[in-house]
Amino acid sequence: MLKATAVASPNIALIKYWGNRDATLRLPSNGSISMTLGGLTTETSVTFNADFQRDEFFLNGEPIFGDALNRVSNHLDYIRRLAGIDTSAIVESRNNFPIGVGIASSASGFSALTVAASAAAGLDLSQQELSRLSRLGSGSACRSIYGGYVEWHRGEGDEDSFATPLAKANHWNLVDIIVVIHKEHKATGSTQGHLLAETSPLQDPRVEDADRRLDVCRSAILSKDFHRLATVVEQDSNMMHAVMMTSSPPLLYIRPETIAVMKKITDLRSKGLEVCYTIDAGPNVHCICTPSFEQEVTSEFSNLQGVIDIIRAIPGPDASIIEVEATDPQE
Ligand code: PMV
Repeated sequence: MLKATAVASPNIALIKYWGNRDATLRLPSNGSISMTLGGLTTETSVTFNADFQRDEFFLNGEPIFGDALNRVSNHLDYIRRLAGIDTSAIVESRNNFPIGVGIASSASGFSALTVAASAAAGLDLSQQELSRLSRLGSGSACRSIYGGYVEWHRGEGDEDSFATPLAKANHWNLVDIIVVIHKEHKATGSTQGHLLAETSPLQDPRVEDADRRLDVCRSAILSKDFHRLATVVEQDSNMMHAVMMTSSPPLLYIRPETIAVMKKITDLRSKGLEVCYTIDAGPNVHCICTPSFEQEVTSEFSNLQGVIDIIRAIPGPDASIIEVEATDPQE
C-alpha cells in the first residue's frame, strides 16, 4: 500500500463563488477568479491500508470526528470509486496558518486531500481531473490545484466545472495583507451559506452580472491594470455581502471593524495607494496591494484598534505531491 503526502495553498477569490446550482455536486451559480496564497500551506498525508477498520482524520495532530470526518470520508469515497478500491485510510493534515482567520482552509484542505489520496490510491490524474474532484469536497478547492491566478469555469455539469490557470504566480506580484479582526469560528459555514444564496432577491442580478465582472477582472489581471482590478474586486465582494445580508435568515459576516478597514482602504486608494479590499465569509479583510505600497498598508493597519493579527501572502505555487512511500514493501 502507498502513503502519499501533498501540499496545497488556500486562495482568495477576487470574483466570488456564492451559491450552487447543484449543492451535492457543488456546481456553482457563477464562475470565479482567485489568487493562490503562497506561503500559507496545508500538508496532507493519506495512507490506505487493508488493516484499517475505518477512515481516521487528524488535523494539526488532533483526531477529528463527526461532520468534518464524514466530509473527508465522503471525499475519499470519490477517489476509492475511481481507483476501484474499498480500503480505509488515515488522513493527517497540518495547516501552517491559523483556522478561522478568513483564510479558507477548506480550499487548501480539500485540494491537498485530493492530490494526496489519488496518488496513494495509485491513480495518475491530470490537474484538470484533480481540480474537478477537489470541487466535490469544497467548491473553492478546485482553484487551489493551480498556483498564481486561477479561473473556475461554471461549466454545464460535473464534467466541465473545474478551474484552469489564468496567469502564473510571477505574472504580477500582488500582495495580500490579511487584516485579522476576529478569530472566532463562524456560526454559519460556507456550505450552509451557499444554500441560503437563492433566498436573496439580489442573488439573481448578482449572478446575471457575473460574466461582466469576470471579463473585467480577467483582463485587468492580464494587463496588470490595478485600478480596474480594484474597482471590480471591491464591487464583487460588496455584491456577495449584499446577497448574504438579504438572505433568509440574513448572514452578517462583517463587523464594525471590518467597515473601518474597508473605509480606510478606499481613503488610501483615493490618495494614490494601489490597494483594494475583498472579504470572504467572515469579518477579516484581505487587502490586495502592489509591492510598492505593502509597507504603508501594513503599518496603517498594525496600529488600528481592533486588529489582532496581520498575515501576508503572495501568489503561490500549484498543489503538488511532496512524497510517496510504500508502506508495505513486500506487496
Ligand atoms: O468553497 P467554499 O464552499 O468554502 O466557499 C467559498 C466561498 C467564498 O470564500 C466566500 C468565496 C470564494 O469564491 O472563495
